[in-house]
Amino acid sequence: MLQGRFRLRILSAVLLSLIVIVGWSSVPVAESALGVNWGTVSFHKLKPSTVVDLLQDNKISKVKLFDADPDSLQALMGSGIQVMIGVPNEMLAALSSSTAASDSWVRQNVSRYMRKNGVDIRYIAVGNEPFLSSYSGQFQSYVMPALLNLQQSLAKVNLASYVKLVVPCNADAYESSLPSQGHFDLN
Ligand SMILES: *[C@@H]1O[C@H](CO)[C@@H](O)[C@H](O)[C@H]1NC(C)=O
Repeated sequence: MLQGRFRLRILSAVLLSLIVIVGWSSVPVAESALGVNWGTVSFHKLKPSTVVDLLQDNKISKVKLFDADPDSLQALMGSGIQVMIGVPNEMLAALSSSTAASDSWVRQNVSRYMRKNGVDIRYIAVGNEPFLSSYSGQFQSYVMPALLNLQQSLAKVNLASYVKLVVPCNADAYESSLPSQGHFDLN
């Protein structure tokens, strides 16, 4: 838990990392969208509504949360911003163990927001870099069963084709310490 929190803090100075997603269309004009990570473990936490204002003022149309914080999601309601929510590593065991657990996770953290003027949840990140080598495999066996349970739970509420499940790639897949250096560890 502490280690997870610490990682989050590193990741989190509120709008720390920018992910640029650029799409091309057949017309020679590039269509682009900007997404950011919104971490909430911070010494100077901004009010969720302030963060959403900042996102909108800067025309940022996609955001990733590291959990499913109700205050953040509340602030995103009606914003039109596409959202990725996250399952913290510490919840993987519970979600892998029963569909009752994944059903209630989906009910509490996804389906209740999916309505007109709600939150446009598009992705669920299952775990936060759960295969990171420093975790020594402790989350490994939970990832697949948690994915399957969540997929079933999404299907039950007819959201399986709209909300996609992803597993965040571990940063130690990079050989270099900076992703922008672009070297992958080939081992
Ligand atoms: C929903 O997500 C929040 C934040 O990650 C978590 O604390 C809560 O336990 C989740 N709800 C359920 C029913 O699992």
